[in-house]
Amino acid sequence: MNSLYQSSIQSLPLLGHGKVRDNYAVGDDKILIVTTDRLSAFDVVMNEPIPGKGMVLNQMSDFWFEKLGHIVPNHLTGVAPESVVAADEVEQVKGRAVVAKRLKPILVEAVVRGYIIGSGWKDYQATGSICGIQLPAGLRQADKLPEPLFTPAAKADLGEHDENISFAEMEERIGADLAAQMRAISIELYRTAADYAATRGIIIADTKFEFGLDDNGVLHLMDEVLTADSSRFWPADSYAPDMSPPSFDKQFVRDYLETLKDWNKAPPAPALPADVINKTQAKYFEAIERLTGEKLKV
Ligand SMILES: Nc1ncnc2c1ncn2[C@@H]1O[C@H](COP(=O)(O)OP(=O)(O)OP(=O)(O)O)[C@@H](O)[C@H]1O
Ligand SMILES: [Mg+2]
Repeated sequence: MNSLYQSSIQSLPLLGHGKVRDNYAVGDDKILIVTTDRLSAFDVVMNEPIPGKGMVLNQMSDFWFEKLGHIVPNHLTGVAPESVVAADEVEQVKGRAVVAKRLKPILVEAVVRGYIIGSGWKDYQATGSICGIQLPAGLRQADKLPEPLFTPAAKADLGEHDENISFAEMEERIGADLAAQMRAISIELYRTAADYAATRGIIIADTKFEFGLDDNGVLHLMDEVLTADSSRFWPADSYAPDMSPPSFDKQFVRDYLETLKDWNKAPPAPALPADVINKTQAKYFEAIERLTGEKLKV
């Protein structure tokens, strides 16, 4: 298993390092997105890689792009990542990269919630609503919502936290037509994915999509889609409301970090014990197998 904490592709111009992905320009209309094994928790990037995690995320996204392609165009070009880098750089992109259309990112993230958990649960307890959307009384933590909710968030700069905004605020920022289009597509993507995942014994509690526009102003789905990083996946067989169900993602890391009384959830990241790294790796591998029915291709 090759592990990659940070890529260094010399044959292409670097556009930037995100928390998890490294982007390079391929000509002036495409980008190479390399998904590394970095893990961010509470928006802080950990110092240790989770070996193979980037491959899991990349292959999960590919799986969903294919499954959801009939709903909205996406950023994939079909160009093989191996074909745009130098021979001695192929190892860095194998199984963990895509060549995507270079889009103009819409700076509002599309969050869809099917269950009431995390910040949504906190919001509901305080206000009886989520992001200003009024909900029935008496919901328990992790309950299924009557309908999936669309709760947009303003995309934050590196090191900042995304900020929930109202739908009206989203309309002001990007225009009412585009906002309505994004909302309708996001809910359809969520419903379609959640129905499929249910057949695999997985609940998709919530997820976040990112969209961009091409030169003709056509809306495209981009970035990562329905991965264990951008979504909460719960095994259906251990789901119960009134608690926070275990999930197929960074749960071990988050739980460990919560035990550190003197870490304030700001950089620098504390060291992760080997045991936490190994268990987290196993969860990511389990997630892709359970979801797609196939083992990770390494
Ligand atoms: N097709 C695309 N065209 C242009 N930008 C893209 C495309 N696909 C993804 N991106 C952008 O590339 C970056 C991917 O990096 P990454 O996900 O590591 O960053 P991040 O956004 O800092 O982290 P987080 O996912 O936690 O918000 C994001 O800023 C994303 O919006
Ligand atoms: Mg991202």
